[in-house]
Amino acid sequence: MDLINSIPTIEPNGEPSVLQIIQIIMLNFELVNPVKILFGKGEIAKIKKHIPNQAKVLLLYGKGSIKKNGIYDQVVSALSDHAIVEFGGIPANPEYSILMKALSVIKNEEINFILAVGGGSVIDGAKFLSSAALFEGEEPWDILTKGIRTEKGMPFGTVLTLPATGSEMNSGSVISRKETGQKLGMGGPGLFPKFSVLDPTVVASIPNRQLANGITDAFTHVMEQYMTYPIGADLQDRFAESIMSSLIDTAPKLIDNPSDYTIASNFMWCCTMALNGLIQKGVPNDWAIHAMGHELTALHGIDHARTLAIIAPRHYAYFLENKKEKLAQYGERVWNITEGNIEERAKQAIEKTESFFHSLDIPTRISAYTNDFKNTAEKVSTALESRGWVALGEHKAVTPDAVKEIVEASY
Ligand code: NZQ
Ligand code: ZN
Repeated sequence: MDLINSIPTIEPNGEPSVLQIIQIIMLNFELVNPVKILFGKGEIAKIKKHIPNQAKVLLLYGKGSIKKNGIYDQVVSALSDHAIVEFGGIPANPEYSILMKALSVIKNEEINFILAVGGGSVIDGAKFLSSAALFEGEEPWDILTKGIRTEKGMPFGTVLTLPATGSEMNSGSVISRKETGQKLGMGGPGLFPKFSVLDPTVVASIPNRQLANGITDAFTHVMEQYMTYPIGADLQDRFAESIMSSLIDTAPKLIDNPSDYTIASNFMWCCTMALNGLIQKGVPNDWAIHAMGHELTALHGIDHARTLAIIAPRHYAYFLENKKEKLAQYGERVWNITEGNIEERAKQAIEKTESFFHSLDIPTRISAYTNDFKNTAEKVSTALESRGWVALGEHKAVTPDAVKEIVEASY
Protein backbone atom coordinates (compact mmCIF):
# COMPACT_ATOMS: atom_id res chain seq x y z
CA MET A 1 0.00 0.00 0.00
CA ASP A 2 1.42 3.32 -1.04
CA LEU A 3 1.08 5.18 2.21
CA ILE A 4 3.44 2.71 3.82
CA ASN A 5 6.11 4.24 1.64
CA SER A 6 5.18 7.76 2.56
CA ILE A 7 5.71 7.41 6.26
CA PRO A 8 8.21 5.92 8.62
CA THR A 9 7.31 2.33 9.21
CA ILE A 10 8.53 -0.35 11.48
CA GLU A 11 9.11 -3.71 9.88
CA PRO A 12 7.60 -6.12 9.29
CA ASN A 13 4.59 -3.97 8.72
CA GLY A 14 1.46 -5.86 7.75
CA GLU A 15 -1.04 -3.45 6.23
CA PRO A 16 -4.39 -4.12 7.89
CA SER A 17 -6.86 -5.80 5.60
CA VAL A 18 -10.27 -4.23 4.99
CA LEU A 19 -11.65 -6.80 7.37
CA GLN A 20 -9.24 -5.73 10.08
CA ILE A 21 -10.00 -2.07 9.52
CA ILE A 22 -13.60 -2.49 10.55
CA GLN A 23 -12.74 -4.77 13.47
CA ILE A 24 -13.08 -3.31 16.89
CA ILE A 25 -10.68 -5.71 18.51
CA MET A 26 -6.91 -5.51 18.69
CA LEU A 27 -5.39 -6.12 15.26
CA ASN A 28 -2.92 -8.92 14.61
CA PHE A 29 0.68 -7.74 14.51
CA GLU A 30 4.32 -8.67 14.21
CA LEU A 31 6.92 -6.56 15.98
CA VAL A 32 10.66 -6.57 15.35
CA ASN A 33 13.00 -3.80 16.43
CA PRO A 34 16.67 -4.75 16.36
CA VAL A 35 18.17 -1.31 17.13
CA LYS A 36 20.68 -1.31 19.98
CA ILE A 37 20.18 1.87 22.02
CA LEU A 38 23.15 3.33 23.91
CA PHE A 39 21.47 5.84 26.21
CA GLY A 40 23.17 8.34 28.48
CA LYS A 41 26.02 10.71 29.10
CA GLY A 42 29.36 9.49 27.78
CA GLU A 43 27.90 6.77 25.56
CA ILE A 44 29.34 8.32 22.37
CA ALA A 45 32.74 6.93 23.36
CA LYS A 46 31.35 3.40 23.04
CA ILE A 47 30.64 3.57 19.31
CA LYS A 48 34.08 2.14 18.55
CA LYS A 49 32.97 -1.18 20.05
CA HIS A 50 29.94 -1.33 17.78
CA ILE A 51 31.62 -0.57 14.47
CA PRO A 52 33.76 -3.40 13.05
CA ASN A 53 37.51 -2.67 13.41
CA GLN A 54 38.18 -3.15 9.71
CA ALA A 55 35.29 -0.94 8.60
CA LYS A 56 35.87 2.07 6.38
CA VAL A 57 33.41 4.57 7.82
CA LEU A 58 31.56 7.43 6.12
CA LEU A 59 30.98 10.05 8.81
CA LEU A 60 27.84 11.85 7.64
CA TYR A 61 26.69 15.12 9.21
CA GLY A 62 24.70 18.28 8.61
CA LYS A 63 25.57 21.93 8.23
CA GLY A 64 28.11 22.06 11.01
CA SER A 65 26.34 22.32 14.40
CA ILE A 66 28.33 19.26 15.56
CA LYS A 67 31.58 21.18 15.11
CA LYS A 68 30.38 23.95 17.45
CA ASN A 69 28.95 21.86 20.27
CA GLY A 70 31.76 19.34 20.69
CA ILE A 71 29.89 16.29 19.35
CA TYR A 72 32.16 16.05 16.30
CA ASP A 73 35.25 15.97 18.52
CA GLN A 74 33.78 13.23 20.70
CA VAL A 75 32.91 11.11 17.64
CA VAL A 76 36.30 11.56 15.96
CA SER A 77 38.11 10.75 19.17
CA ALA A 78 36.00 7.62 19.67
CA LEU A 79 36.92 6.51 16.14
CA SER A 80 40.63 7.27 16.34
CA ASP A 81 41.45 3.66 15.41
CA HIS A 82 39.04 3.52 12.48
CA ALA A 83 39.45 4.67 8.88
CA ILE A 84 37.03 7.57 8.40
CA VAL A 85 35.94 9.62 5.40
CA GLU A 86 33.82 12.70 6.18
CA PHE A 87 30.82 14.03 4.32
CA GLY A 88 29.19 17.13 5.80
CA GLY A 89 26.51 19.47 4.47
CA ILE A 90 23.33 17.39 4.60
CA PRO A 91 20.57 20.03 4.81
CA ALA A 92 17.31 19.91 6.76
CA ASN A 93 14.88 17.87 4.62
CA PRO A 94 17.75 15.82 3.16
CA GLU A 95 18.22 16.66 -0.49
CA TYR A 96 18.63 13.97 -3.12
CA SER A 97 21.21 15.81 -5.24
CA ILE A 98 23.51 16.25 -2.22
CA LEU A 99 23.02 12.66 -1.13
CA MET A 100 24.01 11.53 -4.63
CA LYS A 101 27.37 13.26 -4.07
CA ALA A 102 27.75 11.31 -0.82
CA LEU A 103 26.89 8.13 -2.74
CA SER A 104 29.80 8.79 -5.13
CA VAL A 105 32.09 9.09 -2.13
CA ILE A 106 30.81 5.76 -0.79
CA LYS A 107 31.55 4.10 -4.13
CA ASN A 108 34.91 5.78 -4.82
CA GLU A 109 36.25 5.30 -1.31
CA GLU A 110 34.89 1.76 -0.90
CA ILE A 111 33.01 2.68 2.26
CA ASN A 112 31.33 -0.21 4.08
CA PHE A 113 29.83 1.44 7.18
CA ILE A 114 27.94 4.74 7.57
CA LEU A 115 27.80 6.74 10.79
CA ALA A 116 25.12 9.45 10.85
CA VAL A 117 25.73 12.22 13.40
CA GLY A 118 22.77 14.57 13.46
CA GLY A 119 19.00 14.93 13.59
CA GLY A 120 16.33 13.24 11.50
CA SER A 121 17.64 14.74 8.28
CA VAL A 122 21.14 13.32 8.59
CA ILE A 123 19.84 9.97 9.83
CA ASP A 124 17.30 9.77 7.00
CA GLY A 125 20.08 10.70 4.57
CA ALA A 126 22.16 7.82 5.93
CA LYS A 127 19.23 5.45 5.43
CA PHE A 128 18.90 6.52 1.81
CA LEU A 129 22.64 5.99 1.31
CA SER A 130 22.49 2.62 3.05
CA SER A 131 19.85 1.54 0.56
CA ALA A 132 21.30 3.25 -2.52
CA ALA A 133 24.80 1.83 -1.89
CA LEU A 134 23.53 -1.71 -2.49
CA PHE A 135 20.79 -0.82 -5.00
CA GLU A 136 21.17 -2.62 -8.30
CA GLY A 137 18.90 -0.44 -10.40
CA GLU A 138 20.10 2.53 -12.45
CA GLU A 139 18.43 5.46 -10.71
CA PRO A 140 18.29 5.40 -6.89
CA TRP A 141 15.34 7.85 -6.97
CA ASP A 142 13.30 4.82 -8.08
CA ILE A 143 13.61 3.49 -4.52
CA LEU A 144 11.30 6.36 -3.51
CA THR A 145 9.02 6.72 -6.52
CA LYS A 146 8.49 2.99 -7.03
CA GLY A 147 8.19 2.22 -3.33
CA ILE A 148 11.03 -0.33 -3.39
CA ARG A 149 11.48 -1.79 0.10
CA THR A 150 15.03 -2.12 1.31
CA GLU A 151 15.51 -5.68 2.50
CA LYS A 152 19.26 -5.24 2.98
CA GLY A 153 21.23 -2.02 3.30
CA MET A 154 24.82 -1.06 4.04
CA PRO A 155 25.19 -1.22 7.84
CA PHE A 156 24.97 2.11 9.64
CA GLY A 157 24.82 3.56 13.14
CA THR A 158 23.64 6.92 14.45
CA VAL A 159 24.57 9.50 17.05
CA LEU A 160 21.37 11.47 17.60
CA THR A 161 21.86 15.21 18.10
CA LEU A 162 18.22 16.35 17.88
CA PRO A 163 15.35 14.40 19.46
CA ALA A 164 12.25 14.67 17.25
CA THR A 165 11.65 12.17 14.48
CA GLY A 166 12.34 8.78 16.06
CA SER A 167 14.39 7.94 12.95
CA GLU A 168 17.15 6.68 15.25
CA MET A 169 15.02 3.67 16.17
CA ASN A 170 12.86 3.01 13.12
CA SER A 171 13.33 1.89 9.55
CA GLY A 172 11.74 4.79 7.67
CA SER A 173 13.28 7.74 5.86
CA VAL A 174 11.93 10.80 4.05
CA ILE A 175 13.94 12.36 1.19
CA SER A 176 13.35 15.62 -0.68
CA ARG A 177 14.21 16.50 -4.26
CA LYS A 178 14.13 20.18 -5.21
CA GLU A 179 14.34 19.49 -8.93
CA THR A 180 10.96 17.74 -8.92
CA GLY A 181 9.41 19.43 -5.86
CA GLN A 182 8.87 16.07 -4.17
CA LYS A 183 9.27 14.81 -0.62
CA LEU A 184 8.87 11.03 -0.49
CA GLY A 185 9.25 8.21 1.99
CA MET A 186 11.10 4.91 1.86
CA GLY A 187 11.68 2.07 4.26
CA GLY A 188 12.24 -1.63 4.79
CA PRO A 189 13.71 -4.08 7.29
CA GLY A 190 17.23 -3.37 6.01
CA LEU A 191 17.04 0.21 7.24
CA PHE A 192 17.16 -0.16 11.00
CA PRO A 193 20.32 1.38 12.45
CA LYS A 194 22.73 -1.18 13.98
CA PHE A 195 22.95 1.12 17.00
CA SER A 196 21.91 4.61 18.06
CA VAL A 197 23.55 6.74 20.73
CA LEU A 198 21.09 8.85 22.73
CA ASP A 199 23.19 11.15 24.89
CA PRO A 200 20.87 13.77 26.46
CA THR A 201 23.76 16.23 26.94
CA VAL A 202 23.53 17.01 23.18
CA VAL A 203 20.21 18.75 23.85
CA ALA A 204 21.92 21.72 25.58
CA SER A 205 22.99 23.30 22.26
CA ILE A 206 19.69 22.92 20.39
CA PRO A 207 18.02 26.26 19.52
CA ASN A 208 14.50 26.84 20.90
CA ARG A 209 12.96 26.63 17.45
CA GLN A 210 14.25 23.08 17.03
CA LEU A 211 13.29 22.08 20.58
CA ALA A 212 9.74 23.22 19.85
CA ASN A 213 9.80 21.33 16.56
CA GLY A 214 11.01 18.19 18.30
CA ILE A 215 8.22 18.26 20.89
CA THR A 216 5.60 18.94 18.21
CA ASP A 217 6.81 16.24 15.83
CA ALA A 218 6.94 13.58 18.55
CA PHE A 219 3.55 14.67 19.92
CA THR A 220 1.97 14.37 16.47
CA HIS A 221 3.59 10.97 15.90
CA VAL A 222 1.75 9.74 18.96
CA MET A 223 -1.52 11.34 17.83
CA GLU A 224 -1.30 9.75 14.37
CA GLN A 225 -1.10 6.32 16.00
CA TYR A 226 -3.81 7.02 18.57
CA MET A 227 -6.46 9.42 17.29
CA THR A 228 -8.59 6.95 15.37
CA TYR A 229 -11.35 4.94 17.04
CA PRO A 230 -11.44 2.80 20.18
CA ILE A 231 -10.74 -0.92 19.83
CA GLY A 232 -10.12 -1.69 23.47
CA ALA A 233 -6.30 -1.74 23.13
CA ASP A 234 -5.85 -0.42 26.64
CA LEU A 235 -2.08 -0.74 26.92
CA GLN A 236 -1.33 0.95 23.58
CA ASP A 237 -3.72 3.77 24.53
CA ARG A 238 -2.05 4.28 27.87
CA PHE A 239 1.46 4.12 26.37
CA ALA A 240 0.41 6.82 23.92
CA GLU A 241 -1.28 8.97 26.56
CA SER A 242 1.73 8.72 28.85
CA ILE A 243 4.10 9.88 26.11
CA MET A 244 1.79 12.83 25.34
CA SER A 245 1.44 13.75 29.03
CA SER A 246 5.17 13.52 29.52
CA LEU A 247 5.84 15.74 26.48
CA ILE A 248 3.33 18.33 27.74
CA ASP A 249 4.94 18.33 31.16
CA THR A 250 8.47 18.47 29.76
CA ALA A 251 7.91 21.11 27.05
CA PRO A 252 8.00 24.36 29.08
CA LYS A 253 10.81 23.09 31.31
CA LEU A 254 12.83 22.11 28.27
CA ILE A 255 12.46 25.50 26.61
CA ASP A 256 13.52 27.15 29.89
CA ASN A 257 16.42 24.89 30.60
CA PRO A 258 17.60 22.52 27.86
CA SER A 259 20.85 21.88 29.78
CA ASP A 260 19.01 20.10 32.60
CA TYR A 261 19.96 16.45 32.22
CA THR A 262 16.71 15.03 33.62
CA ILE A 263 14.53 17.21 31.42
CA ALA A 264 16.65 16.48 28.34
CA SER A 265 16.56 12.73 29.08
CA ASN A 266 12.77 12.70 29.26
CA PHE A 267 12.48 14.72 26.07
CA MET A 268 14.88 12.44 24.21
CA TRP A 269 13.34 9.15 25.28
CA CYS A 270 9.78 10.39 24.62
CA CYS A 271 10.73 11.32 21.05
CA THR A 272 12.30 7.93 20.41
CA MET A 273 9.42 6.00 21.97
CA ALA A 274 6.90 8.01 19.95
CA LEU A 275 7.98 6.40 16.68
CA ASN A 276 9.86 3.18 17.27
CA GLY A 277 6.97 0.93 16.35
CA LEU A 278 5.78 -0.04 19.81
CA ILE A 279 2.67 2.11 20.19
CA GLN A 280 1.42 1.62 16.62
CA LYS A 281 1.11 -2.14 16.86
CA GLY A 282 -2.31 -3.74 17.07
CA VAL A 283 -4.17 -0.44 16.64
CA PRO A 284 -5.47 1.48 13.62
CA ASN A 285 -3.15 4.28 12.47
CA ASP A 286 -3.94 7.43 10.52
CA TRP A 287 -0.81 9.24 9.15
CA ALA A 288 -2.83 11.59 6.91
CA ILE A 289 -1.50 14.63 8.80
CA HIS A 290 2.03 13.60 7.83
CA ALA A 291 1.01 12.93 4.24
CA MET A 292 -0.42 16.47 3.91
CA GLY A 293 2.40 17.98 5.97
CA HIS A 294 5.14 16.59 3.72
CA GLU A 295 3.49 18.34 0.77
CA LEU A 296 3.50 21.65 2.65
CA THR A 297 7.24 21.26 3.21
CA ALA A 298 7.79 20.36 -0.45
CA LEU A 299 5.74 23.38 -1.60
CA HIS A 300 6.73 26.04 0.92
CA GLY A 301 9.79 24.78 2.81
CA ILE A 302 7.93 24.91 6.15
CA ASP A 303 9.71 22.91 8.90
CA HIS A 304 8.29 19.39 9.13
CA ALA A 305 6.92 19.73 12.67
CA ARG A 306 5.25 23.06 11.86
CA THR A 307 3.35 21.56 8.95
CA LEU A 308 1.89 19.04 11.39
CA ALA A 309 0.83 21.77 13.83
CA ILE A 310 -0.93 23.51 10.94
CA ILE A 311 -2.83 20.47 9.69
CA ALA A 312 -3.60 18.52 12.90
CA PRO A 313 -6.28 20.81 14.39
CA ARG A 314 -8.09 21.10 11.03
CA HIS A 315 -7.82 17.37 10.32
CA TYR A 316 -9.34 16.51 13.69
CA ALA A 317 -12.08 19.11 13.32
CA TYR A 318 -12.95 17.80 9.85
CA PHE A 319 -13.09 14.19 11.04
CA LEU A 320 -14.68 14.98 14.40
CA GLU A 321 -17.47 12.47 13.87
CA ASN A 322 -15.04 9.60 13.12
CA LYS A 323 -12.58 10.44 15.86
CA LYS A 324 -14.65 11.96 18.64
CA GLU A 325 -14.45 9.01 21.04
CA LYS A 326 -10.66 8.95 20.98
CA LEU A 327 -10.46 12.74 21.03
CA ALA A 328 -12.66 12.81 24.12
CA GLN A 329 -10.66 10.06 25.82
CA TYR A 330 -7.44 11.97 25.06
CA GLY A 331 -9.06 15.16 26.34
CA GLU A 332 -10.01 13.53 29.58
CA ARG A 333 -6.86 11.52 30.28
CA VAL A 334 -4.25 13.94 28.94
CA TRP A 335 -5.85 17.38 29.43
CA ASN A 336 -8.25 16.62 32.32
CA ILE A 337 -11.29 17.75 30.32
CA THR A 338 -14.32 16.34 32.11
CA GLU A 339 -17.11 18.79 31.26
CA GLY A 340 -19.53 18.32 28.37
CA ASN A 341 -20.68 15.46 26.18
CA ILE A 342 -18.32 13.45 23.98
CA GLU A 343 -18.49 15.89 21.09
CA GLU A 344 -17.92 18.93 23.31
CA ARG A 345 -14.99 17.27 25.04
CA ALA A 346 -13.53 16.27 21.68
CA LYS A 347 -13.73 19.88 20.49
CA GLN A 348 -12.07 21.15 23.66
CA ALA A 349 -9.31 18.58 23.18
CA ILE A 350 -8.59 19.94 19.70
CA GLU A 351 -8.43 23.48 21.12
CA LYS A 352 -6.05 22.36 23.87
CA THR A 353 -3.82 20.72 21.27
CA GLU A 354 -3.63 23.85 19.15
CA SER A 355 -2.95 26.00 22.24
CA PHE A 356 -0.16 23.61 23.19
CA PHE A 357 1.52 24.26 19.81
CA HIS A 358 1.03 28.00 20.32
CA SER A 359 2.64 27.74 23.78
CA LEU A 360 5.75 26.52 21.93
CA ASP A 361 5.66 29.60 19.68
CA ILE A 362 4.52 27.57 16.72
CA PRO A 363 2.01 29.35 14.47
CA THR A 364 -0.70 27.00 13.23
CA ARG A 365 -1.79 28.75 10.03
CA ILE A 366 -0.15 28.50 6.60
CA SER A 367 -0.45 32.27 6.19
CA ALA A 368 2.05 32.73 9.02
CA TYR A 369 4.72 31.06 6.88
CA THR A 370 4.06 32.18 3.31
CA ASN A 371 1.99 34.69 1.33
CA ASP A 372 1.84 32.48 -1.69
CA PHE A 373 -0.79 29.97 -0.58
CA LYS A 374 -3.75 30.68 -2.84
CA ASN A 375 -3.51 27.33 -4.66
CA THR A 376 -1.89 25.31 -1.91
CA ALA A 377 -4.96 23.21 -1.06
CA GLU A 378 -5.44 22.25 -4.69
CA LYS A 379 -1.74 21.41 -5.09
CA VAL A 380 -1.58 19.24 -1.97
CA SER A 381 -4.72 17.39 -2.98
CA THR A 382 -3.48 16.82 -6.54
CA ALA A 383 -0.04 15.68 -5.37
CA LEU A 384 -1.53 13.03 -3.09
CA GLU A 385 -4.03 11.97 -5.73
CA SER A 386 -1.30 11.59 -8.35
CA ARG A 387 0.31 9.04 -6.07
CA GLY A 388 -2.93 7.13 -5.78
CA TRP A 389 -3.50 8.28 -2.21
CA VAL A 390 -7.21 8.85 -2.53
CA ALA A 391 -8.40 7.04 0.60
CA LEU A 392 -6.03 7.68 3.50
CA GLY A 393 -6.70 7.38 7.22
CA GLU A 394 -8.14 4.68 9.44
CA HIS A 395 -11.52 4.79 7.68
CA LYS A 396 -10.03 5.46 4.22
CA ALA A 397 -12.07 8.66 4.35
CA VAL A 398 -9.28 11.12 3.54
CA THR A 399 -10.22 11.66 -0.09
CA PRO A 400 -8.80 14.36 -2.40
CA ASP A 401 -11.82 16.55 -1.57
CA ALA A 402 -11.26 16.12 2.16
CA VAL A 403 -7.58 17.00 1.74
CA LYS A 404 -8.51 20.14 -0.14
CA GLU A 405 -10.95 21.25 2.52
CA ILE A 406 -8.59 20.50 5.41
CA VAL A 407 -5.71 22.40 3.83
CA GLU A 408 -7.98 25.29 2.83
CA ALA A 409 -9.28 25.50 6.38
CA SER A 410 -5.63 25.81 7.49
CA TYR A 411 -4.91 29.02 5.55
O1 NZQ B 1 22.58 20.75 10.02
P1 NZQ B 1 23.06 20.97 11.40
O2 NZQ B 1 24.17 21.93 11.48
O3 NZQ B 1 23.35 19.68 12.12
O4 NZQ B 1 21.86 21.71 12.21
C1 NZQ B 1 20.61 21.12 12.46
C2 NZQ B 1 19.52 21.65 11.56
O5 NZQ B 1 19.78 22.98 11.20
C3 NZQ B 1 20.13 21.55 13.82
N1 NZQ B 1 20.67 20.70 14.92
C4 NZQ B 1 20.59 19.36 15.06
N2 NZQ B 1 21.15 18.97 16.23
C5 NZQ B 1 21.59 20.09 16.84
C6 NZQ B 1 21.30 21.19 16.01
N3 NZQ B 1 21.63 22.46 16.35
C7 NZQ B 1 22.27 22.64 17.52
N4 NZQ B 1 22.58 21.63 18.38
C8 NZQ B 1 22.25 20.34 18.07
N5 NZQ B 1 22.54 19.36 18.95
O6 NZQ B 1 18.74 21.39 13.75
C9 NZQ B 1 18.29 21.68 12.44
C10 NZQ B 1 17.23 20.69 12.01
O7 NZQ B 1 17.76 19.40 11.90
P2 NZQ B 1 16.91 18.24 11.19
O8 NZQ B 1 17.73 16.99 11.28
O9 NZQ B 1 16.47 18.68 9.86
O10 NZQ B 1 15.61 18.14 12.11
P3 NZQ B 1 14.68 16.94 12.47
O11 NZQ B 1 15.35 16.00 13.39
O12 NZQ B 1 13.43 17.56 12.91
O13 NZQ B 1 14.47 16.15 11.09
C11 NZQ B 1 13.51 16.55 10.15
C12 NZQ B 1 13.49 15.59 8.97
O14 NZQ B 1 13.11 14.25 9.38
C13 NZQ B 1 11.96 13.81 8.63
C14 NZQ B 1 11.28 15.13 8.31
O15 NZQ B 1 10.35 15.00 7.27
C15 NZQ B 1 12.44 16.02 7.95
O16 NZQ B 1 12.88 15.77 6.64
N6 NZQ B 1 11.18 12.84 9.38
C16 NZQ B 1 11.70 11.60 9.51
C17 NZQ B 1 11.02 10.60 10.17
C18 NZQ B 1 11.59 9.24 10.28
N7 NZQ B 1 12.64 8.92 9.54
O17 NZQ B 1 11.11 8.41 11.02
C19 NZQ B 1 9.71 10.81 10.77
C20 NZQ B 1 9.25 12.23 10.81
O18 NZQ B 1 7.84 12.25 10.75
C21 NZQ B 1 9.79 13.10 9.72
O19 NZQ B 1 9.05 12.97 8.53
ZN1 ZN C 1 6.91 13.63 11.91
